[in-house]
Amino acid sequence: MVERKPIIVGNWKMHKTISETRTTLSALRAAVQDVDSVDIGVAPPFTSLSAAAEVLLGSNIALAAQNMHCRDTGAFTGEVSPPMLLDAGVTHVILGHSERRELFGETDDLIATKVEAALAHRMVPILCVGETQGQREANETVSVVTGQLSGALRQLRGADLESLVVAYEPIWAIGTGLTATPGQAQQVHEIIRDFIGDLLGRAVAERLRIQYGGSVKPDNAAELLTQPDIDGALVGGASLEAESLAAIVRAC
Ligand code: PGA
Repeated sequence: MVERKPIIVGNWKMHKTISETRTTLSALRAAVQDVDSVDIGVAPPFTSLSAAAEVLLGSNIALAAQNMHCRDTGAFTGEVSPPMLLDAGVTHVILGHSERRELFGETDDLIATKVEAALAHRMVPILCVGETQGQREANETVSVVTGQLSGALRQLRGADLESLVVAYEPIWAIGTGLTATPGQAQQVHEIIRDFIGDLLGRAVAERLRIQYGGSVKPDNAAELLTQPDIDGALVGGASLEAESLAAIVRAC
């Protein structure tokens, strides 16, 4: 069996000014400085990335972006490119978050171009997939999630995908306080791993880290993270406080 190092990433969404970023990350840095068995990352808003990179320099916390454009430069008002993120100290990027899909119209085709760009720039793409409440009730969870995976990974081969992380985030569990049960989450994670195995080969699937996201908190993290195919968490609300993100890292 392949050992997969767990990865916990905080997604701050549209929260925190530069000074709030400095305060929270200084506290987080101190709280997790002795952890080396878990990969840790934080995704602040774009305006805080440079300040975050300063605070995190030489630490065990990676800097992530919440989105990016697929092109390096050009007339794309309001967008941020991979080289800009690399220059700011970013190593990981969240792509295809359900809020980007639902509120900003991102399609699988668009997300595919971003995943390709992230890999081309040697950034770690965190590809988010997940079903709505209605889709779950209609028994469409598997078709939705596998459709999102094949849509976003359509052009990639196994060798390109060493660093890929997938985040399974059932939309009905995001920011709602509803969490998938460990059994529900494990079931979808296993399906994702099998599907990636069919698509890209068993070796890639065995190494692939699959995060769970959706109302992960210090008190439910341990039971989720002990499931065999749950290799970490993408944490929204509970990542805004250094102590609660540190507690989730320790639960790992
Ligand atoms: P939540 O968000 O932890 O606040 O539910 C998770 C996410 O959107 O990544």
